[in-house]
Amino acid sequence: MTAAHTIIQTDSSAIASHTHTLFVCQTCASVWQDGKRVGESGGQKLLHQIQQLAQDWDLRDEFPIQAVECMSACNRSCVVAFGAKGKLTYLFGDLNVDDSAAAVLECASQYYAKTNGLLPWSERPEPLKRGILAKIPPL
Ligand code: FES
Repeated sequence: MTAAHTIIQTDSSAIASHTHTLFVCQTCASVWQDGKRVGESGGQKLLHQIQQLAQDWDLRDEFPIQAVECMSACNRSCVVAFGAKGKLTYLFGDLNVDDSAAAVLECASQYYAKTNGLLPWSERPEPLKRGILAKIPPL
């Protein structure tokens, strides 16, 4: 297992207190040199933009943002996922670093509002219409 495939450890009790999570891969669109990441990756830039916007997001306390190192869709960067208890899990890729953050939070709000998490194509924000990689049934 490489560093790129290790999920960052977080305080599981903090995560457990929420039912929704927005996962953002911070390894996507990295430049590697001698096994080390050089500079800020595209995924880190997108993560920071999402975190910045989320400061004014009405769901910021209910829908925590969790940075992860890889979701195995590396050739479709940048990549995010929505997950929640009893809901579909979605994985989205091909997200542009510079203009996707607002769309990700808008789509997360749509996901939060649906009891099963279903995100119909026609209702999703434009950047999340094209790059859907997985829609996984609830447990
Ligand atoms: S590096 Fe982002 S999904 Fe693998």
